[in-house]
Amino acid sequence: MDKKLNWGLLSTAKINQALIRPLTASKRTRLLAVASRSLSSAESYAREWKIPRAHGSYEALLADPEIDVIYNPLPNHLHAEWSIKALRAGKHVLCEKPIALTLAEVDAMTQAAKETGKVLAEAFMYRHHPQTLKAKEIVDSGALGKIQLIKGAFTFNLTREGDIRLNKEMGGGSIWDVGCYPISFARTIVGADPLEVFGWQVTGQSGIDDSFYGQMRFESGVHAQFDSGFKSPFRTMIEIVGTEASLSIPSPFKPERNSELLLSRGDKAEKIKINGGMLYMGEVDDMCDAITQNKAPRVSLADSRGNVATILALLESARTGKPVSLAKS
Ligand SMILES: NC(=O)c1ccc[n+]([C@@H]2O[C@H](COP(=O)([O-])OP(=O)(O)OC[C@H]3O[C@@H](n4cnc5c(N)ncnc54)[C@H](OP(=O)(O)O)[C@@H]3O)[C@@H](O)[C@H]2O)c1
Repeated sequence: MDKKLNWGLLSTAKINQALIRPLTASKRTRLLAVASRSLSSAESYAREWKIPRAHGSYEALLADPEIDVIYNPLPNHLHAEWSIKALRAGKHVLCEKPIALTLAEVDAMTQAAKETGKVLAEAFMYRHHPQTLKAKEIVDSGALGKIQLIKGAFTFNLTREGDIRLNKEMGGGSIWDVGCYPISFARTIVGADPLEVFGWQVTGQSGIDDSFYGQMRFESGVHAQFDSGFKSPFRTMIEIVGTEASLSIPSPFKPERNSELLLSRGDKAEKIKINGGMLYMGEVDDMCDAITQNKAPRVSLADSRGNVATILALLESARTGKPVSLAKS
């Protein structure tokens, strides 16, 4: 049995609450500390969530010699800066999606991970879920025939005023926040980056995209279409269409413990039940495997780079009104 890895939360972000249960329940991890820009907020957060240590600055958390792993759920524009600082302080890092906002940032993060020998991975929790693994297995088995089309969506009504997602300087916008999921899913199913993309956006008051409508064309002949947005009710879906059959995934990104896939062939539909467990435990286990067993993280930095490159190309397409090739990025 490996020693328990000590984790520290870099801020009091809302999304921490998804990680606190797996970090507390896992036999491989101990949630040791939380940091906030203010000591009083770190202390009250630590009391509320029964976290043993509170640090009044992010620097103090990185300087804590007992911390092995940093969970980075900062606003998107701070992912690169603080993940690099954490790596250079000798910590492993699980960084929230999107891992960064430019390719130069992803490259600097990759370089820091390489130089320090520490693990850095993007927290795409859905990638580790048995439902995603099953969908990929079905596609790879050839059961759907040759894949032609992948459709996806992730939208919700964003009503919180002052939310980081509405701030352009912080990397706000629906494609960075939720469009990244159907893009990542399509790239995972195809196992490649698109050759070419085209996108439209509906721009909100703050200059971010309130809604994004995108298309991707892959070398293998697969086409993908997705939408993301802050102005529609909560909706998530993936549909994978092959020449022989199609696979629908009603809850692709946040599956419940018991989820199901629908495999349709002609007028027959088969339900495939998935027993999923705790959604966010997968990324915690994957980090532990990477750190203690030297396994490659399931979401590689090259894969994360491909997702960022695709999002940037889609944004450029929406800006210019022209298709954008990814061949050169
Ligand atoms: N994987 C998922 O399921 C999932 C779900 C939701 C969000 N996310 C990702 O997690 C990240 C955080 O999202 P969230 O909704 O949890 O954000 P949030 O509640 O707004 O938290 C962000 C935290 O960052 C800290 N911070 C540092 N500088 C800041 C600044 N200039 N402005 C605002 N906050 C600042 C604050 O903590 P202190 O005040 O304590 O310093 C704040 O609590 C995003 O990257 C998002 O994409 C992932």
